[in-house]
Amino acid sequence: MVKKNACVFISGSGTNLKALLKSSREYNFPININYIISNTKKAKGLSLAKLYNIPFCVLDLNKIINLEFFLKEIHRRKISLICLAGYMKILNKNFINKINKKIVNIHPSLLPKYKGLNTFNKVLKNKEKLTGCTVHYVNKKLDSGKIILKKKVVIESNDNEETLKTKVQTKEYRAYSESIISIFR
Ligand code: GRF
Repeated sequence: MVKKNACVFISGSGTNLKALLKSSREYNFPININYIISNTKKAKGLSLAKLYNIPFCVLDLNKIINLEFFLKEIHRRKISLICLAGYMKILNKNFINKINKKIVNIHPSLLPKYKGLNTFNKVLKNKEKLTGCTVHYVNKKLDSGKIILKKKVVIESNDNEETLKTKVQTKEYRAYSESIISIFR
C-alpha cells in the first residue's frame, strides 16, 4: 500500500502519538508519520520522535515566520494529513487558512458536549452517565469541526478524574487509528 505522509502535533505525554506510531507500522494502515511538531520542548512525547528517528521541531505556529517555515516543510515532506494529538495551543485563523491539508483532532468528550479543557471534571460535576472521545476535523472554531468518529465510555459511580482519563484515553487510541483508516478509505 502506498501510504500518505502525516505530521502529528503534540504538547504533552504523547500517548496518542505512540498509538498512531504503532498503527503506522502496520502494512495496511494508510499513513506514515514523517514529521512531529511540538509547541514546547518540555513535551514528553518528543522522546518518541527520537526513539523512532522521526524528524521533529519545536515551534510556535502562531508566529508568521514559523508558519512560513512549516508550510515549506509540509510541501517538502509531502504531508497530506495533520493530526493534533494532545496539542494544547489553539491554531489561529491564519494557520487554518494557509494550510491546505486535512487537519484532525482528538478530544476527550462526546462532542458537541464539553468542548475545551477539563472535560473529565466537567462531566463528573454534571453527573453524566456517559462520556467518551471524539475525532473531528479542525476548523476555525474550537472543537467544532465535522465529527469523524466517537467512542463511548460508561461512567461508574466510583469513577474519578483519574480513572475516567484512563478509560477515555484507552478508547482514544483505537478511535484515532480507526478514524484515519476511514478518512482514506
Ligand atoms: C488526550 O486525552 C486528548 O484527547 C487531548 O489531550 C490528551 C493528550 O494526551 N486532546 P497524550 O499527549 O496523547 O497522552
